[in-house]
Amino acid sequence: MWQLNEVTSLLTIEVPIIQAGMAGGVTTPELVAAVSNAGGLGTIGAGYMTPKELQTAIRETKKRTDKPFGVNVFVPEESTGSEADISFANDLLQPFHEELQIEPTEEVSHSSSTFQKQLDVIVEEKVPVCSFTFGVPSQTVVSRLKNHQIRLIGTATTVKEAIINEDAGIDLVVAQGSEAGGHRGTFAASFEQGAVGIMSLVQRMAARVSIPVIAAGGIMDARGFVAATKLGAQGVQMGTAFLTSPESGAKPLHKQAILESDGDDTVLTRSFSGKPARGIENAFIRHLRQHEHQLPPYPIMNTLTKTLRKAAAEQNKPDYMSLWAGQNASLSREVPAGQIIERMVNEIKGLCE
Ligand SMILES: Cc1cc2nc3c(=O)[nH]c(=O)nc-3n(C[C@H](O)[C@H](O)[C@H](O)COP(=O)(O)O)c2cc1C
Repeated sequence: MWQLNEVTSLLTIEVPIIQAGMAGGVTTPELVAAVSNAGGLGTIGAGYMTPKELQTAIRETKKRTDKPFGVNVFVPEESTGSEADISFANDLLQPFHEELQIEPTEEVSHSSSTFQKQLDVIVEEKVPVCSFTFGVPSQTVVSRLKNHQIRLIGTATTVKEAIINEDAGIDLVVAQGSEAGGHRGTFAASFEQGAVGIMSLVQRMAARVSIPVIAAGGIMDARGFVAATKLGAQGVQMGTAFLTSPESGAKPLHKQAILESDGDDTVLTRSFSGKPARGIENAFIRHLRQHEHQLPPYPIMNTLTKTLRKAAAEQNKPDYMSLWAGQNASLSREVPAGQIIERMVNEIKGLCE
């Protein structure tokens, strides 16, 4: 049976297909529950949620499914940005502030206490799976979650990062290929070194670590699943494919841009957040491109563009929105999330049996 392996047994799910936790309102309780009800693992993207918002999202998800689901959180990063960096970035953003008629963000504060409070909610609500990106949590955090029987999934963009996850006691690791939509999870390599395609990354990672490897990046259907598992992955994590489902909370203009993508139009950019992320190229990305390496680091730049991104969505200006998408965006369809899983399962059977 192709679907029964370490991923399904560790996560107690039926098929080794994970819907990526996508921060920023995409992962509604409806989406997460639909994926889990179809036998995969739905995941709440909690990166930008307050502890209270996370608690509500978990409770709403539980109303819609009694199957396991996960919560994805951001491991906090130390970052420094001087007042000069902030005013440099605000000068670059000025034409956009003017056009959208909004004020620049001057105050930038970031607290790692939100992360600890998110973990408190995950423990209190007995969420069975917790996944991480942007780093590996401390031993204290790993032990605490494992003592509560929570399965842990890490993110790695190099083999070395996968080894760091394994050594820290993480149960499964996502191999995030450079094809992937959204932010790069790179934390122990340069972003250039960490931009590795799935074909190379999965094969080498699966040969090097004993924990199960889950492939992510450009996987949209059964063909991607079968290819990834042939390379050594025991499961897949998909983001873009679920983003255009009716259950997804992605902004309508974001969905439309993905559905209209020809697949050649995604780029890696630091312009929105200070951290490289893959999305559909637009005027904002082009305008900031030549200054990308002078921008304040994540999460400072992310905070500086927050109001701008929100105003752009409200004013129907996709040219200034972050339209995160993977390199296979052109294979996206407006299909309900449960059907995406069902179709994949049927087609995988055809390709494997
Ligand atoms: C809109 C969007 C938001 C994302 N947000 C997160 C996130 O919050 N946490 C995370 O671990 N990965 C995030 N990712 C990356 C996914 O985990 C995964 O690596 C990626 O979606 C796989 O590539 P694909 O989009 O081609 O399927 C995001 C991806 C997208 C498209």
